Parts: sequence; C-alpha cells; structure tokens
Amino acid sequence: MSTSSYVLDLIQRPRRLRRNESLRRMVRETELSVNDLIYPMFVMEGENQKVEVVSMPGCYRFSLDLLLKEVAEIAALGIPAIALFPVISESKKDETGSESYNPEGLVQQTVAAIKAQSPDLVVITDVALDPFTSHGHDGLLDEAGYILNDETVEVLAKMAVSQARAGADMVAPSDMMDGRIGAIRQALDNEGFTNVAILAYSAKYASAYYGPFRDALDSAPKSGDKKTYQMDPANAIEAIKEVELDIAEGADIVMVKPALPYLDIIRQIRDVTDVPVAAYNVSGEYAMIKAAGEKGWIDEKKVMLETLVSIKRAGATLILTYFAKEVALLLK
Ligand code: PBG
Repeated sequence: MSTSSYVLDLIQRPRRLRRNESLRRMVRETELSVNDLIYPMFVMEGENQKVEVVSMPGCYRFSLDLLLKEVAEIAALGIPAIALFPVISESKKDETGSESYNPEGLVQQTVAAIKAQSPDLVVITDVALDPFTSHGHDGLLDEAGYILNDETVEVLAKMAVSQARAGADMVAPSDMMDGRIGAIRQALDNEGFTNVAILAYSAKYASAYYGPFRDALDSAPKSGDKKTYQMDPANAIEAIKEVELDIAEGADIVMVKPALPYLDIIRQIRDVTDVPVAAYNVSGEYAMIKAAGEKGWIDEKKVMLETLVSIKRAGATLILTYFAKEVALLLK
C-alpha cells in the first residue's frame, strides 16, 4: 500500500525477488544438503563409555560399543560419511607413534566393526601421529625438537596402509608433511588398495581454532607449536601451491581447514582446481557458536545454518562439521 506519491524511477528492484519465501526459494543459489556432510567422531577405549567433550557440548568420546549405535543413527539420517579420530591412552603413546599402525589398534578395530555393521557408510580415517605420540606432535622429532619430514612420512604411509587393511574407504592425512600424499598413494597401491581414496588436508593452517579438539583427544603438543609444518594464517598463494602439489601426488579431494576464517581460501582453491574441495568447520568454530548460543547471545540454529551455507557458497563441496547430526535432523 503506497502512502505517498514519491516513486523512484527504478528499472531494477532486486527486492522484487525477495518478497516471499516461494520467490526466495526459486532464486536461491546455494542449498545445504545432507549429502554435503561428513561427521567427525571420537572413539575411546573401554565399554559403555560416552563422555561429553567439555568445550564441545553435544560431542562425545564413545567407546566402540556405543559408537556403533551412534554410527547406525548417523547412517540412518543419510549422512554419507564419518571421519574417525581416536583417543589413545597415555600408556600406548611413544616418541614415534608406533601404536598408529598396530593392526589390532583402536582405529583399526573400530573401522572394521563399523564397516561390518554399516557397510555403505564411508569411513574416513585420520592419518596423523599427534594422537599417538608422547609429545603430541604430528611427526617424529630430532634432538632439537624439529619435526622430521621424510622419517615421519614413512610412518604415515604404514599407518594409512593399516587403516586401509582394516577397511577404511578413504584416508585423510592431516599432518602437513611434504610429499606425504605421493608416498601414501604409492604405499596403498603397492598393497593393492588402489580404490582407497585420499582426502588431503592440503591447506591446513596453524590455527588456534583447534583447541577444543585437542581437549577431546588429549593431543595438545607438550612443547612448542605446529608452525613448522602447518601453514601461516597470513598466506593464500601458498595454499594454492599446497593444493597443486597434493593433486599432482594423487589427492582425490583437497581440504581447507579451518573453514570460516578461510572462506577466501576455499573460493580461490575452488576456482583453480578440478577435484572436490572439502572444508573443515573445526572444533573452535563449533565451540564459539555453542557457547554464544548457550548464553542466549545468538540464535544458535540460525547461526549454524548460516555458517554452513556460507562455507558451501564459498565453494566447498563437502563440509566436515560437528553440527552434521543436528543439521541432518533439521533437514529431515
Ligand atoms: C591433527 C588434527 C587436528 C584436527 C584434526 N586433526 C588438530 C591439530 O592439528 O592440532 C583439528 C580438528 C578440529 O579442531 O576440529 N592431526
């Protein structure tokens, strides 16, 4: 209802297509789907254990028996994949992370049990040493505390093969060593696992947003930081270089991590690559939304959906997110 005769002489009025929800739906460019989601899950030893991660409300460390029940729910919700992370007891950690390639290890047993129960669910395993090393770094250290590259890659390749042997569909190196994608591809192929895919954490930044995850796994580095292997948050061109190297070495999917503070990186990578791009909406991003939501300072569900849509709009095909279950329930 016009209340004045004042009319702008406009040819274009973008608001015409925003007048109601039907119109908005018709012109919506990005749609979040359950198919986009990968749910990270934490497994611990023991039985009948379900322990909430204090800094990640709604996320739990599960013992294998309870994890299997949760996994069945996740699969029933239509979430296509989970990313598995182990909580390793201190007594099994050592300088070189040798528990990581134990054929009877927690990850190996868990993968086998999940695939036996839910064969269609894609199981993605983390290839990195930090949950297994006594010092909490993603690699082997020299006397000066520097993380050795090639020696670490040798262990990572063994670890990836043992995960594939247990039934992993996809291995996800999150360590940021040079040359690990090529070495892992070759090791997998040599053992006959040509169909096991590699999801490469290609542009993984040395980020403070990983704090709650390190609480979840008790995996914070005991000394120093991860800046000699993870990327400097100030760099973008270097992310392209990392992605190009990983694709040349055989990565099937490349990933940017964290997601929200690095939307520009997701977009730049999307524009120059021809493989799917994943983004990891990490623990700190999750914790911030949960904490502000608990305080009543933001509308948690709306901020969650807006965040995930923005990650997809930036160019991510897949999103690893601790919100996956909540989102899948909402989208149902
Ligand atoms: C370690 C690893 C980390 C995360 C996934 N794999 C932490 C780190 O690099 O210290 C973080 C995930 C999150 O914060 O949600 N290989």
